[in-house]
Amino acid sequence: MKSYELREKFLSFFKEKGHAVIPSASVIPENDPTVLFTTAGMHPLVPYLLGAKHPEGKRLANVQKCIRTGDIDEVGDTTHCTFFEMLGNWSLGDYFKKEAIAWSWEFLTSEKWLNIPKEKIFITVFAGDDDAPRDMDSYNYWLSHGVDESHIFFLSKKHNWWGPAGTTGPCGPDTEMFYDTGKEKCGPDCSPACSCGKYVEIWNDVFMEYNKTAGGKYEPLSQKNVDTGMGLERTITVLQGVESVYDTDVYQGIMNRIKQLADKEYGESEEITRAYRIVADHIRTSVFILGDQKGVTPSNVDQGYVLRRLIRRAIRFGLKIGIPEGSMPEIAEAVIDQYKDIYPELDENKKFVVDELHLEEKRFQRTINQGLKEFSKLIRKLGNDVKVIDGASAFRLYDTFGFPLEFTQELAAENGFTVDVEGFEKSFRRHQEISQAGAAQRFKGGLADHTEETTKLHTATHLLQAALRKVLGDEVMQRGSNITKERLRFDFSFSRKLTKEELEEVERLVNEYIEQDLEVVCEEMPLEKAKASGALGLFDSKYGNMVKVYSIGDVSMELCGGPHVKRTGELGRFKIKKEESSSAGVRRIRAVLLEK
Ligand code: ALA
Repeated sequence: MKSYELREKFLSFFKEKGHAVIPSASVIPENDPTVLFTTAGMHPLVPYLLGAKHPEGKRLANVQKCIRTGDIDEVGDTTHCTFFEMLGNWSLGDYFKKEAIAWSWEFLTSEKWLNIPKEKIFITVFAGDDDAPRDMDSYNYWLSHGVDESHIFFLSKKHNWWGPAGTTGPCGPDTEMFYDTGKEKCGPDCSPACSCGKYVEIWNDVFMEYNKTAGGKYEPLSQKNVDTGMGLERTITVLQGVESVYDTDVYQGIMNRIKQLADKEYGESEEITRAYRIVADHIRTSVFILGDQKGVTPSNVDQGYVLRRLIRRAIRFGLKIGIPEGSMPEIAEAVIDQYKDIYPELDENKKFVVDELHLEEKRFQRTINQGLKEFSKLIRKLGNDVKVIDGASAFRLYDTFGFPLEFTQELAAENGFTVDVEGFEKSFRRHQEISQAGAAQRFKGGLADHTEETTKLHTATHLLQAALRKVLGDEVMQRGSNITKERLRFDFSFSRKLTKEELEEVERLVNEYIEQDLEVVCEEMPLEKAKASGALGLFDSKYGNMVKVYSIGDVSMELCGGPHVKRTGELGRFKIKKEESSSAGVRRIRAVLLEK
């Protein structure tokens, strides 16, 4: 059975049982700040599980695009994916355990539907605790369908309870269906509770009859709901009788494209196979995030950070199998080809997806090799005695070379090291405090974001101030700055309009500094030392004791929170667009950076 048939069969089955088929919601939750991504089909339906009336009725079914990155370290085995499709049916205060279990059983085992041999199916049921009783009803329904009691396991809340999707909301006990792959038991206690891979979970029926409150209490909901989730990738693996989700038709086109690009063979070794799968998984998820067109782009916060981490991790594992630089967009195209008939938004947003991947790959390529060298140096320096990478070094890899923390942790683990995460967070917070102080007090407007464009314009602003002071004298002092992706705006003290010649000379000087490809160096030092060394900045405002000072060659030295580019050669061509008065004694320049 092909994956498209499974989608169709599932929806037809539940249509026959009186369900309305609804479309997949976005992978980026709308109006819900408690989670970054849609992690399950129930997520967009929370208001209806709580009692709101759904326009399509009380019985719904769909295929929902889901993203879960909690198990990212498991990706590369046979079953874990950060993106997956969840087939689901819902009862919003309509049917309950009896029908849900009967229909799950019928769909899985009936010849007309999936026709999975009954003896291959194992079941888990909630064992009960202080919050809710042992689920004897579900147990008895399974027995009534002929499931042998040796195939049913009672497990704790850790295994057989689902929700809430965020920290509060609808939740309840569940009963899960597993497929026995036929592998050897891993030991005498091997059961669906263990993760050895013998039993693969394919479907989960949740009986949502509780609401978890902010105080951690489980209160009865006004209605009893059913929420089910069948993992499409896992189920199709079982139905196609292949070894892993990556060997199903879902991944075929994507894996083939990676095989064409790589210079190592899939299956050559465990490590190579894992790297192949990680590239495939991460680019597939990235395409679904970008393709949703909610405007999420790689960044250092929230969904953008997850996206950045996925893309950069894919690039790193791509290096292990010899994928050439700049290949990620090609793999993305294979993902889009695979899914465009089911999720047309991916094709509609193809240009955006490909462009963003291309940009992020370029950004990272620029620093990855340097960062990896830096990393090797670091662990050589630490040697055999100290097996911990300190927080400041991990932060430097993050800040200067764009290594997400988890990425450094993985590299560290590969080399038998750990990372001082608390120390990293401390450095991170200090950096934020410094840049916030910098942004609030020095830049008034500040940086709109930390994109590549903004960062370049930020460095250009330092060069502009240096050039203005060279041409017009020390009277020039920064009074304000506002930078967006498109342009910089710089306010400075000066008593008259600039002449055409002066402006041309300032522009020429900035471009000369760019041509010289000067190194941008960031140093942390005590405030007093910064003052003594002649760095520009407002020393009367409240900085912490330690400050960051950015120097550009010997042209510029400023107190600043960053971020900045590594070398001025990255900037392109500097162009002044306008010079005007801002307020009494203050002039304003608007400028842009153009491609060289
Ligand atoms: N919400 C349930 C799950 O994700 C169905 O497993």
